Amino acid sequence: MAKPLKHIFVCTQSRGPGHPRGSCSQSGCGEVLDEFMFEFQKRNLGEKFRLTMTGCLGPCNGPHVLVYPEGVMYGPVLKEDVAAIVDEHLLGDVPVARLCVPPEIWG
Ligand code: FES
Repeated sequence: MAKPLKHIFVCTQSRGPGHPRGSCSQSGCGEVLDEFMFEFQKRNLGEKFRLTMTGCLGPCNGPHVLVYPEGVMYGPVLKEDVAAIVDEHLLGDVPVARLCVPPEIWG
C-alpha cells in the first residue's frame, strides 16, 4: 500500500435528535462524502489520496472535513465545495481559505 500524499477525513458523526451539539450527519455530510467519492472515482485519485469517514472532529456545525498532513479543517462544507477542495488543495497544494474553519476553532 502506497503512502498517500494527503489524507481526507470526512466527519460522518451522528447524534440523536435534539442533541445540543448537533452533528455533521444532520448537516448533510452524506452528500459531501458522496461527492468526494464521485470526484475520487472520476479523476482516479485513490492511488494518491486517501478518503476516510471519521467520527466527530470537534466543532460539529459541519459538515467538516480535515486534510492531513497540513491539518487544514474545512467547514461547513457543501457538496458544491468539494471540487474546489480537490482542485485547489489536493491537486494544487493550496488550501481553500474561504472554506477553512475560523482560527479560533483551534483554541
Ligand atoms: S459531529 Fe462532525 S465535527 Fe463534530
